[in-house]
Parts: sequence; C-alpha cells; structure tokens
Amino acid sequence: MTDEAARQGAPADRAPEDMPTSFGFTTVAEGQKQALVDDVFHKVASRYDLMNDLMSGGLHRVWKDAMVSFLAPPKSPASSWQLLDVAGGTGDIATRVIEKSNRTARAIVCDINESMLSVGRDRAEKAGLSDAITFSLGNAEELPFPDKHFDAYTIAFGIRNVPDIPKALREARRVLKRGGRFLCLEFSEVDVPGLDRIYDGFSFNAIPAMGKWVTGDGDPYQYLVESIRKFPSQERFAEMIREAGFERVSYRNYSGGIAAMHTGWKF
Ligand SMILES: C[S@@+](CC[C@H](N)C(=O)[O-])C[C@H]1O[C@@H](n2cnc3c(N)ncnc32)[C@H](O)[C@@H]1O
Repeated sequence: MTDEAARQGAPADRAPEDMPTSFGFTTVAEGQKQALVDDVFHKVASRYDLMNDLMSGGLHRVWKDAMVSFLAPPKSPASSWQLLDVAGGTGDIATRVIEKSNRTARAIVCDINESMLSVGRDRAEKAGLSDAITFSLGNAEELPFPDKHFDAYTIAFGIRNVPDIPKALREARRVLKRGGRFLCLEFSEVDVPGLDRIYDGFSFNAIPAMGKWVTGDGDPYQYLVESIRKFPSQERFAEMIREAGFERVSYRNYSGGIAAMHTGWKF
C-alpha cells in the first residue's frame, strides 16, 4: 500500500492502480491521476514559464537560484559530474545548474510530458545549451536510467504531481551514486500566522483567474492550487524521504514556508 493510500485508509487488498489518491481536492484512483496531470501540463506548456512568473511574482526564480546555490555543482572542466532533473519540464533547474558549473557539468531533464520537454529543448537551443542538457521522456516512478548513475537528483515543483510519491523517492535513490545528493523544491505549508490567510486568498482567487486570463482556461490552475494544499507537511515529507532510504535528511523553508527545499544523501 502506498503511504498516500494508507493515510486515506484504503483497503490493503486493492490493486495499486485502484487505490484512492488526490487530484487536487478530488479523490481519484491512483491509476487515473497521471493522465489528468498530463492533461494539465499539455494545456499549460506553451505559457508555463510566463505563468510561473505571474503566479509567484518572480519568487520561483529566487527559490530555484537558492536551490542551485545550495547544490553548488563543481566548476571543473575535468569533472564528469552529472545531474538528473526529474519532472524538469522546460529545464529551469538544469539550465541554472549548467550555468552555475560554468557550463562544465551535464544534465538530463526527465519529464513525462512531451509538450513541456519540447518547450525546454527550444529554450536550451536558444541558450546554446543543447550539448549540455539532454531532454528525455520518462516517468519519475520508473526512471529509464541505470542504478548508481547520477551525482545529483533534483525535482522542483514536480513531486506533488506524481501519483505514487514513495515509489518516485525509491527510484531517486536507486539512480544516485553513493555519495549522491537528493534535492526537492516544492510548495509547502506556510508557517507564518496571517501569511497563510493572505496566501490562501491569493491562491484560490487570483491564480485560477490569472490562468483563465492568460491561457483562456482556469481549470489547470485550480488543480495546481489544490494540489499544493494536499501535499504533505514539511515534517511528514522529510519522513517519507527517510523511509525511501535517504540519510541526513533536512529541509529549509523559503518565504515563510510557501516553498520548502528538502535534501538528503545516498550513502
Ligand atoms: C510544475 S511543473 C515543474 C517544472 C520544472 N521542474 C519547474 O520547476 O519549472 C511539474 C512537471 O512535472 C511533470 N510530471 C508530472 N508527473 C510526472 C511523472 N510521473 N514523472 C515525471 N514528470 C512528471 C509535469 O509534466 C511537469 O512538467
């Protein structure tokens, strides 16, 4: 039984794909969730980067920069250091990591959605990063990569969309080398009194309205906002990372917990 299903008290004799899980505030069978998520990101792909800036007031850039500074990829041309950025979408994290390494590192962006990858490929080509970043279609729950292959695994604003999160975390550990690092940036639980109410008001009113105005369809943004509220708390998610076998797991909040970065090591 997945942790998600266990939390929801699902009977143990159901097949995994029949287990209830959340798609925003709607409960769906785990086997249905991915198709619904894919539909959201096919719809938003062409406006994804613009909407990220509008929805977060540019803050997502600050959080992503902080994550990549924390990762501090090596800057040596002799290094063969390689990143796997899962649910990497249009390549925001991979691009930052390559630039931070003075273009000496290599990265694979793995995402389940070809529309998002296609925007990313075009962006990388325009930035002259096609040699450094490879865009690869794949599912976080069944990564198409060998064991012990990567120096670092990142996932930014991706894990809450994955139907079976514990499975994705075990896959993350599998593909990392010993000594490899896991970093996850995700929307989280606001821990500043007062800010939570302002943030709720903004999220549930402004974001779907903004999405409808920019893309003509507010529904994908309603899902995005709801999925944030369904994601486990900072402490609970840290526990899930430990359960997947990572060590020295910790987290830090950004902007009062609107986002949090969780980190761990594979030893
Ligand atoms: C909110 S976007 C994040 C993109 C990028 N990491 C960023 O920070 O801008 C979430 C991404 O997760 C991807 N995704 C959803 N489910 C996935 C899965 N099971 N495996 C891999 N990627 C997935 C979506 O296709 C989408 O590109």
